[in-house]
Amino acid sequence: MEANRRKARAALVRILQKAHAAERGAAIAYRGHAASVRNIIERDAIVHIERDEWEHRAKLGAMLDELGAGTLPLHEIGMLAIGSALERLCFVSGRRLPMFCAWLLERVNVEQYATAARLARAAGCPHMAPLLMKMEQAEADHVAVFDGFLRGVAPVPAVH
Ligand SMILES: [Fe+2]
Ligand SMILES: [Fe+2]
Repeated sequence: MEANRRKARAALVRILQKAHAAERGAAIAYRGHAASVRNIIERDAIVHIERDEWEHRAKLGAMLDELGAGTLPLHEIGMLAIGSALERLCFVSGRRLPMFCAWLLERVNVEQYATAARLARAAGCPHMAPLLMKMEQAEADHVAVFDGFLRGVAPVPAVH
């Protein structure tokens, strides 16, 4: 039992560390994405999503602190580099490709936070699960926004 809990805790830390790095990469990519779109409704929605990602990163940092774990420096640098490259790419890639990539990545994020919430319970940190599920819902809302953009439907930005 104790071994299972330790294993879950290690897996939870790992997933939170990866998400912490990825949220910054995503936020930076969205900064470029928002600046590159012409439609004001799309821009506002992407700015809102960027804000969500910075918020998620801050919350993940607090959870890692609580677990006595640090961040993964190489992963942080790698995601920073990818986010910065995507930030610039948005200006030359046309409208649909960044929307599609964002839609795909957000779907992965939904799964990631669902898994993290399960691991939090298994690791003996059930108080973290509601917050992780809230982040899962936020990522699902992001999926819906990009899905709408790809289908040509204006989104109603969710407030978290
Ligand atoms: Fe996020
Ligand atoms: Fe997101």
